[in-house]
Amino acid sequence: MQINVERHQARRAALNARLPAGLLILPTARVKNRSNDSDYSYRFDSSFHYLTGFGEPEAVLVQVLGDQPRSILFCLPKNELREIWDGFLFGPAAAQAQFGFDEAYPIDQLDARLAELMAGQPRLYFPIGADEKWDQRILDLVNVVKSRARLGLSAPTEFVDVRAAINEMRLFKDPHELAIMREAGRISAEAHLRAMQAARPGQFEYEVEAELLYHFYKNGSRYPAYGSIVAAGANATCLHYHENNCRLRDGDLLLIDAGCELHGYAADITRTFPVSGRFSGPQKDVYQLVLAAMQASFDQVRPGVPRIAYHDAAVRTLTQGLIDLGVLHGSVDGLIESEAYKQFYMHGTGHWLGLDVHDVGEYKIDGESRRFEPGMVLTVEPGLYFRPPLADSPAHYVRNIPEHFLHLGVRIEDDLVVTADGHDNLTTLAPKTVADIEAAMAR
Ligand code: GLY
Ligand code: MN
Ligand code: MN
Repeated sequence: MQINVERHQARRAALNARLPAGLLILPTARVKNRSNDSDYSYRFDSSFHYLTGFGEPEAVLVQVLGDQPRSILFCLPKNELREIWDGFLFGPAAAQAQFGFDEAYPIDQLDARLAELMAGQPRLYFPIGADEKWDQRILDLVNVVKSRARLGLSAPTEFVDVRAAINEMRLFKDPHELAIMREAGRISAEAHLRAMQAARPGQFEYEVEAELLYHFYKNGSRYPAYGSIVAAGANATCLHYHENNCRLRDGDLLLIDAGCELHGYAADITRTFPVSGRFSGPQKDVYQLVLAAMQASFDQVRPGVPRIAYHDAAVRTLTQGLIDLGVLHGSVDGLIESEAYKQFYMHGTGHWLGLDVHDVGEYKIDGESRRFEPGMVLTVEPGLYFRPPLADSPAHYVRNIPEHFLHLGVRIEDDLVVTADGHDNLTTLAPKTVADIEAAMAR
């Protein structure tokens, strides 16, 4: 994708405007080893990328915050041998010019220059506690500055976790980010449709996973945003099932939770459909109930509504439905109060979505659920899971779950952006009603 210098410069300026004077230090992510001398595919740190657009490992953003702000990049130097083996590196000079930094230096100058940059600064901003080695390195440098105090320059005395300010900015997506997320949603929804149409009894779950990944790659997404969950039958009652190595049986439901990452941004979609192409009666009952809960949640996603309302709406709809299906017994209010529904619905109804699949941003402000505002992007993902209770399950658990519901797991997940007057659904292309799923799978 084209590097847009102004966009990242504007974000750095906005961060400067939010924070009292000081020195910001933000390293990107480390390379992670997979085995022997092979590493995992490199993924930059999301906040580092948000502020710089720079994708190489071993890089650090340093910003002098205040009236005369400066953005400084530390990165790997040009190195012919390394580039022959591992690929192109910008090097400081080209990185400075192409990414719009005021200064750039080789990463091996970081400690020496940081000690100079820290001197005289009142406070340091960095992701405190995110990485022990960085914590230690930065505190060691503060001590170096302290040891030079007789030269007349004081060391910073305040240490601020800079993530709070960056996270708050990242929570509100700008039009450029929304355009990417719309595209990530479209590609991912199409991949779900493809998987639905390809799934057959007798296949392995990983064969269906291959259909998803093929569509992601084919459309320019180089990675899934998280490990794809392709869970047939009872596997769907494990929320983070990831083996994906069982056979699809005729009569099973197949739950797929998968989304692509596009230019760093995640999509996160779940669909649940019958391997045979036709829902059984009990499967349809559970499915329609989860879909109704999703609709009840959607109704709460608009500006001004506290975020928790969409979870409460899902819980209320699911609890009433479980009573209607003869699974739970009692009053809706009583069953919500006692949390009896958690036997069947034990997770939240969604999360912020962005550069991270579980994206950053506070869910509460001063202890109160924060209200939706335009530009926030979130998932809505109600579900129901019917696991047979164990001998040592909590005493209040329903033991006589109707046989025809046992081992069913259904979740449906879409990605919404809050707009001025409601919301927009980024993932509608993946069929969702019983009729649409059965039509898409008709063979
Ligand atoms: N795929 C993880 C989630 O839905 O939150
Ligand atoms: Mn998901
Ligand atoms: Mn999710």
